[in-house]
Amino acid sequence: MSGQPKIVVAASLPELVEVAAAHVRRVAADAIAARGRFRIALAGGSTPRALYPALVTGVDWTRANIFFGDERAVPKNDPMSNYRMARETLLDPAHVPPANVIRWRTEDPDLDAAARDYEEALRAGAAAPWLDLALLGLGPDGHTASLFPGTSALAEEDRLAVAVDVAQMGTRRLTLTYPALCGAREVCFLVTGRDKAAALATVVEAGHLPAARIIRRTGGPVTVFCDRDAASGLKGRTPS
Ligand code: 6PG
Repeated sequence: MSGQPKIVVAASLPELVEVAAAHVRRVAADAIAARGRFRIALAGGSTPRALYPALVTGVDWTRANIFFGDERAVPKNDPMSNYRMARETLLDPAHVPPANVIRWRTEDPDLDAAARDYEEALRAGAAAPWLDLALLGLGPDGHTASLFPGTSALAEEDRLAVAVDVAQMGTRRLTLTYPALCGAREVCFLVTGRDKAAALATVVEAGHLPAARIIRRTGGPVTVFCDRDAASGLKGRTPS
């Protein structure tokens, strides 16, 4: 059985940022009210760059544990680093206490060991569900986090974090797995641009490609925040 995500289509990027940010603030406030902490996995890539500045205010980041859904195998100050993107757009401007930020140790020559350590950090002092909110993006090939088509990470059913060879990109990545992401209390996708329309339609309606298992999960709410271009391939569904 598969679930159906809520699709929120915004007429413009500023509107998309506003509705997505309001949603994240609400999830954060509810988590802190219920459990005293807000455990979030941030999305990487370029799309969240517009959202994160809107989250500098309105969230009590002193009560948060901030993880990353995935990371590129580059140094933390590299322009390709998801950590660097988040640091510049959210963590530094919001003065997030460094102890609240759990970065993948990409400088470790043994990325498998770095992934095991990351899993330990995610499990430390917590129990499933490990995350209150997983923020995710979507690639044109239907990947999310670093769960790419044809990679070994897709078959992982026990580990919460792994290092994975992504042959199609000729690189290794670090990523949270389906057990970690599908198990989050809440999942939000942020998807913009016409180049994502086919993948979004395939993931939501046909139910295949790596992101489908998360977008169509039944274990809790999934909201897809997208623009009209990204939603242009969705049929038979009235964007709310
Ligand atoms: C990454 C991401 C990845 C991203 C998609 C979409 O590290 O690249 O975590 O899953 O969300 O590739 O990327 P864009 O937002 O740049 O289109």
